[in-house]
Amino acid sequence: MSGIGPWEAVAGWSRGEPEVRLAGRDDIEPLVLVLARAFADDPVACYLFDGERARARGLRRFFGAQLRTMMMGPGEVWTTSRASGAAIWVRPGAPRAATWRDAVRLAPVFADVVLGGRASASFRLLADVERARPTQEHWYLATLGTDPRAQGRGVGSALLRSTLKAVDDEGMPAYLESSKRQNVPFYMRHGFEVTGVVRSVDGAVSLWPMWRSPRPPGG
Ligand SMILES: CC(C)(COP(=O)(O)OP(=O)(O)OC[C@H]1O[C@@H](n2cnc3c(N)ncnc32)[C@H](O)[C@@H]1OP(=O)(O)O)[C@@H](O)C(=O)NCCC(=O)NCCS
Repeated sequence: MSGIGPWEAVAGWSRGEPEVRLAGRDDIEPLVLVLARAFADDPVACYLFDGERARARGLRRFFGAQLRTMMMGPGEVWTTSRASGAAIWVRPGAPRAATWRDAVRLAPVFADVVLGGRASASFRLLADVERARPTQEHWYLATLGTDPRAQGRGVGSALLRSTLKAVDDEGMPAYLESSKRQNVPFYMRHGFEVTGVVRSVDGAVSLWPMWRSPRPPGG
């Protein structure tokens, strides 16, 4: 077999691992669309935003605000050579005001949440998610998403692996909330462990907080 097929081109993947790089401001627009597509059927996004149009608009605004906020200093955004996915990390010690809940607050996203039928339950869920976050310093994976056309090709794993290696080298733990039960085994394979569950008041959606202790060098 030789040459790069259409899937590999989308994934930025020639042979072996997709190439991972730090994202810059020029990547914001394409990554907003990639992430909005990746999360279009996410259960929590479906809960927060009523209807497909509000969700598409809300997700674009949310990821635009989150990417811009993180690139200003409190975080790091990693992508692949062809911007087919993104991992948005918040540094240890960054003010909590830099977390995704507050990135939402910076954007007019709330208009879509407020206009939705579950506004108070949605805000309660966001507050409960924030409360579940450990106080011990850690790298926080605020968002991980791969363009649906490039999923299952190693993009998400490559994005995770490269930062987790650096996180291990620092001896730091890492933390995330999985908004899909089916992603839990994927994160477990990267060393995260489920530490609990956060449910919406009506029990309609759940998130799984996951913690990863640093691996010893060479481990
Ligand atoms: C979760 C998500 C980020 C994973 O990204 P991805 O790029 O599909 O991840 P990978 O391709 O590295 O791994 C996915 C699976 O494909 C497999 N895979 C990896 N490389 C592969 C390859 N070259 N060929 C075939 N399969 C491969 C992996 O083993 C993995 O299987 P597993 O889940 O059983 O471990 C992606 O599915 C996504 O964006 N989902 C929607 C948004 C979302 O749910 N984000 C996370 C919120 S918690």
